[in-house]
Amino acid sequence: MTKSWYHKTSIYQIYPRSFYDSNHDGIGDLKGILSKLDYLTELGFETLWISPFFSSPQADLGYDISSYTDIAPEYGSMDDALLLIEEIHKRGMKIVFDMVMNHTSTEHEWFKESRSSRTNPKADWYLWRDKPNNWKSMTGGSGWHYAKERGQYFWSSFLPFQPDLNYRNPEVKKVMLDAVRFWLSKGVDGFRLDIFNVIYKDAEFRDNPFTFQLAPTETNPSGFFQEAKYTLNQPESFAFAKELRAVCDEFGEKLLLGEISGDRETAQKFLGTKTNDGLTLAFDFDMLTFKFTAEYFRELIQKIEAHVPDPFMPVYVFGNHDRRRSIDRLGNDLQKAKLLHMLQLTVRCVPCLYYGEEIGMTNLKQSFATALDPIPRKFKHIPPLLFDMIGLTINRDEVRTPMQWDETANAGFSSAQKAWLPVHKNYKTINVETESEDENSLLNTIRAVMKIRVEEKSLREGTLEMLTDLPNGVLGYIRKFEDEKIIILLNFDKKEKQFEFENTHCIFKLFPKDKAAKKSVYLSSFGGMILK
Ligand code: GLC
Ligand code: CA
Repeated sequence: MTKSWYHKTSIYQIYPRSFYDSNHDGIGDLKGILSKLDYLTELGFETLWISPFFSSPQADLGYDISSYTDIAPEYGSMDDALLLIEEIHKRGMKIVFDMVMNHTSTEHEWFKESRSSRTNPKADWYLWRDKPNNWKSMTGGSGWHYAKERGQYFWSSFLPFQPDLNYRNPEVKKVMLDAVRFWLSKGVDGFRLDIFNVIYKDAEFRDNPFTFQLAPTETNPSGFFQEAKYTLNQPESFAFAKELRAVCDEFGEKLLLGEISGDRETAQKFLGTKTNDGLTLAFDFDMLTFKFTAEYFRELIQKIEAHVPDPFMPVYVFGNHDRRRSIDRLGNDLQKAKLLHMLQLTVRCVPCLYYGEEIGMTNLKQSFATALDPIPRKFKHIPPLLFDMIGLTINRDEVRTPMQWDETANAGFSSAQKAWLPVHKNYKTINVETESEDENSLLNTIRAVMKIRVEEKSLREGTLEMLTDLPNGVLGYIRKFEDEKIIILLNFDKKEKQFEFENTHCIFKLFPKDKAAKKSVYLSSFGGMILK
């Protein structure tokens, strides 16, 4: 049986502020995205996820929303948003919005009213307490903040200006589900759900237990010496995923992609017991800290196949607007990036690519003190070197620099004097135009593999079987769908490899020298091929 669209698709994340500026103010916008749809269609990704562009004071660059059904003027108008949905659909593509359900901005009218007194009609729309308990926010420090108007504290899971909504209040649940309905009725195909697993907190506000863990990791969100037992992954949040699904079902087959932290068992609880029972897909952020070896990826694939078996579908993601760019982990090596994405686009998954990853855009180091991202400002007293040592990108401005389109001023992103963030100085070589002309570029590699992915059912929805008995450093797997079969071989080793291998014929290879003869295969250093 063939899978539903949301399990066969591929996702491209657009950070709208950095994609393309259509009106010369240095800020990317919706019309900018519209004007680049041909580029995106040609790239081959079928679903576009767009980071928030709703009304917002932009204190967290749009993840602090002051109205869920209005567009921030710097990004455009409602008409632009509707046109974008329409144009994307015309091209046979899907569009996914970014829903920040957990919190609003402190500038949202709901919060202003809620804060104004202890008796107003929205007094209970956020989490208010006379005294803080011991809970720490996800960014460190107490998440309780004093509001003199009420003489009480409100809870923020993330930053102080992002107060958490109270989902135990039925009115809150209703307005938020109505916001979801609003966009579904305009035709959006689903949502990426921001920090979805903190949506409910313990009803009794019990103190979190002590743990020795200092910093949160991708698999263990506890940290700052406390186990996040009562602040995330509450049973009510798993149930809420199903309520959200029911709302989506009113509109057809919709995609819900959860930003979830915690182990894989927890992520599964959000997906439910049958597909599209709760969330459709959940990110697996453990792989953002990947090691570039065949052993690492063999183990990763095996673990994921065990935890997210068919008919569920895993998401493979190596970068986003919060984390270090994937190529930064590869020493900015474009060859290695080709192999990484060849894996991502051929393994059993919905691949999720972050804008600029397709051309190998790199992190751009910037000062903490002048950052536009609020996080580094919070940590400005800690030497950035310490974060570098543990490979953590704290200053998210580093991964949000303008898209590099060509070698003209501002990398062709904007004709303003100055773009909202500096453009990386490598833009004269790392850009769409230059790479389009080079047959072997990362960009053209991704285009070519995407073409195969779109054509081959086995890659989009087939089973995955690991190949054994391959030389050290070589990773291989077979994808099968009915009687169609595709074999992928990837050499993660610097040494070239020649080995016996029965095969049919090669339909794609990374290097001109990679070769498949009747009974043997040759792979260059970091080479790879797809056989049919
Ligand atoms: C998510 C977003 C991040 C944002 C935070 C608070 O992690 O990806 O960019 O700052 O939530 O909304
Ligand atoms: Ca603009």
